[in-house]
Amino acid sequence: MAGRTESLQNITMSGGGAYSLATKGAEDVINAATQIVLEALDSINISENQDLFTFSDMGTADGGTSLKMVGNLINAIQKNNPGISFNIVYADQPKNDFNGLVQTVLGLGHFPSYLESTENVFPLFSANSFYKQILPNNTLDFGFSATAMHWLSGKPCNLSNHVHMVGADGEEYLRFSEHGKKDWETILLHRAHELKQGGQLVLLNFCRDENGKYLGNTTGVNMFTNFADIWQDFLDQGRIRPEEYRNMTLPQYYNTVEEFSAPLKNSESSVYLAGLRLKNIETRITPCPFAEAFKDHQDAQRFAEEYIPTIRSWNESIFFGALDIQRPLKERKKIIHDYYQTYQKQVQESPELHRMDYVHAFIVIEKI
Ligand SMILES: C[S@@+](CC[C@H](N)C(=O)[O-])C[C@H]1O[C@@H](n2cnc3c(N)ncnc32)[C@H](O)[C@@H]1O
Repeated sequence: MAGRTESLQNITMSGGGAYSLATKGAEDVINAATQIVLEALDSINISENQDLFTFSDMGTADGGTSLKMVGNLINAIQKNNPGISFNIVYADQPKNDFNGLVQTVLGLGHFPSYLESTENVFPLFSANSFYKQILPNNTLDFGFSATAMHWLSGKPCNLSNHVHMVGADGEEYLRFSEHGKKDWETILLHRAHELKQGGQLVLLNFCRDENGKYLGNTTGVNMFTNFADIWQDFLDQGRIRPEEYRNMTLPQYYNTVEEFSAPLKNSESSVYLAGLRLKNIETRITPCPFAEAFKDHQDAQRFAEEYIPTIRSWNESIFFGALDIQRPLKERKKIIHDYYQTYQKQVQESPELHRMDYVHAFIVIEKI
């Protein structure tokens, strides 16, 4: 639904380049998809006289996790088209840490950047959400996004008994699934306008897979149930209030493969009519790097101290935002600190039960 208004959400990853440092798993996901990206690239007909190639990374955070993949893509194109220039468009929502993003892409942060070894590459930074059009009509050659499009354009409702839609039921679940459906169509319709004919989209999106698995729910403790249980304990102890419990509802939706595919396969949908076609969709599980490392080092304290920051990097802003702003800042900080400490203690006590495996749908789409 083009034109739907989107309220600014309180979604902020850790800033100053800390996001990429804490989320090695997200980089593993992108690197694992490099082959798929290069295959999609092969199907684009880049003529000898094409002098500009436009690539977008939507929901890029600090840009650190996609640096290697973008470098590989540029090298692959320049091999056959040495004179070509690139617009690399980094897009994220306005509250993202754009200073951190610029630093990382320019190689002034924690990692080396492909800009140091490439020529004719022009990074551009856009604070337009993927629920809006980011680029002019018919100008995008290749659109990419990883681990971002599960964030909804708004919160459909607060959940009474959980913090995430994976634990919702009844009317509340239906409101989330309806919102998720509209948002997915909005994302695709905008990309349909931006893409050139023959342009490609590779989207690595969180999903609920064919076996009902999703982020942090592959084996052992269900991470989202654990979030909800600790939050419930804080409510029971009187540390938070009922409205604060309900406010802590993540504005996210994990589509199934069928839900992702539907608007791209239904010949009457506006997305299909706008020219987008599903080329491939497959689900992948990327192992939690911290739980894997624990198998070798067997140091429970180290595992807990590495594992909790990766979780904090993407959900702390939502927990914090759920607390009543009338509470003194110090008190709010203390509640959030204790919340993650509780989780960390559990991980340290039974490390073999905890892991945040990533569960994605790798989706390849073409504009005909
Ligand atoms: C978990 S990070 C993923 C970052 C990176 N793509 C990766 O795979 O490591 C999710 C990112 O999506 C961004 N995001 C959420 N909603 C967005 C929106 N509507 N438009 C653009 N970016 C959005 C967040 O700000 C955040 O930077």
